Amino acid sequence: MNKITAIVLAAGASTRMKTDIPKVLHKIGSKTILDRVIFNLKNAGVKDVVIVAGYKKEKIRECVQGVRFAIQEELLGSGDAVRTGIRELGKEAETVIVVCGDAPLINGKIINSMIKKHCEEKVSCTMLVCEKEDPFSYGRVIRDKEGKIERIVEEKDLGEDQKKIKEINTGTYCFKKEDLVNFIGKIEKNSKKKEFYLTDIIKIFTDNGEKIAYVKCSQEEAIGINSRKEIAEVNKIIKYSTIERLMEDGVTIVDPETTYVDETAEIKKDTVIFPNTVIEGNVLIGERCQIGPFARLRPGTRIADDVEIGNFVELNRAEIGKGTRIKHHSYIGDAVIGKNVNIGAGVITANYDGKNKNKTVIEDGAFIGVGTILIAPVTVGKK
Ligand code: UD1
Ligand code: CA
Repeated sequence: MNKITAIVLAAGASTRMKTDIPKVLHKIGSKTILDRVIFNLKNAGVKDVVIVAGYKKEKIRECVQGVRFAIQEELLGSGDAVRTGIRELGKEAETVIVVCGDAPLINGKIINSMIKKHCEEKVSCTMLVCEKEDPFSYGRVIRDKEGKIERIVEEKDLGEDQKKIKEINTGTYCFKKEDLVNFIGKIEKNSKKKEFYLTDIIKIFTDNGEKIAYVKCSQEEAIGINSRKEIAEVNKIIKYSTIERLMEDGVTIVDPETTYVDETAEIKKDTVIFPNTVIEGNVLIGERCQIGPFARLRPGTRIADDVEIGNFVELNRAEIGKGTRIKHHSYIGDAVIGKNVNIGAGVITANYDGKNKNKTVIEDGAFIGVGTILIAPVTVGKK
């Protein structure tokens, strides 16, 4: 069996993000960028993952489990980062996948198709490329007269004509380990940026008569996060794909533009989500509910069937029973609310006493009057 190891490049200093947190630890929805990249690899069946960390390496170590680490001592570019990762490869590794820790939308299916192509064509390297309407800042793919990939040129080194090329390098590669190990040392320092560019290995391969195969993906899937702008772009892509999936499953989303739903939320059919509603991670909503407008459902909230949650209601780790109504201006946190409960406008659960978060229990059929503050821990029955 062909043993596959992935090297994830995540040592960069994130200068364009203007951040004190490594960029790969920034969250998109409920998951970090790096978690998404690792999830994609595991989804493709790649079990052995080496993360190359450098900038704020301890923070990265703290945040990821089930992977190995290689530490890049000096940030000398993606070529040097891969050289660092190679030191962690076991003898048995035959294929090495290299991915950038900042490209969260290159999914398991794409990685699988690269592995398949790579094995079929028996080449030194299979690259993931794509056509990008605005290719600015990405490395461009230079092809020879026969249309074969010859080399990659980075933005800073492009000639005027090359700037028009729309085919870009996504930064994802599948290498024959032996060839990667033999040729990586031949990369020279780029004279402008004083870094070792991994992308230079492509020309080294082709100059040596080695072949390069490629797989294409869409321009959205190729997005590499270099700044806050791309974080927003990826957020939007994930949000709309979640909303589309929910609509296909029978959920009405009145205004997708002003609605935010985390991809981990589960919503059942015939529920209607009104505008300006925010549904965060790990929220479950049953059938025939009405949610919003202007509701915020925070993680750990579970809502049964036929529930109405109205405007300016915030639910946090709350369990809401079937047929219950909370229609205006309420905060319900750390609470278990039974069936057919009516909660009047402006009801607040005071769940935090400064030290502990305490529970509020409201039993089936209870009626809580307007403006009630329930100081937890407290249980309220029907009568
Ligand atoms: C890189 C590619 C470019 C491609 C683009 C796709 C190179 C030289 N260029 O450019 O062709 O179009 O990705 O998104 O590879 N890193 C390290 N150590 C370093 C430097 C970088 O681990 O010393 C990591 C970064 O954390 C990042 C990845 O390598 O995850 C890519 O580096 P980045 O600076 O983002 O490269 P790009 O300019 O985006
Ligand atoms: Ca990048």
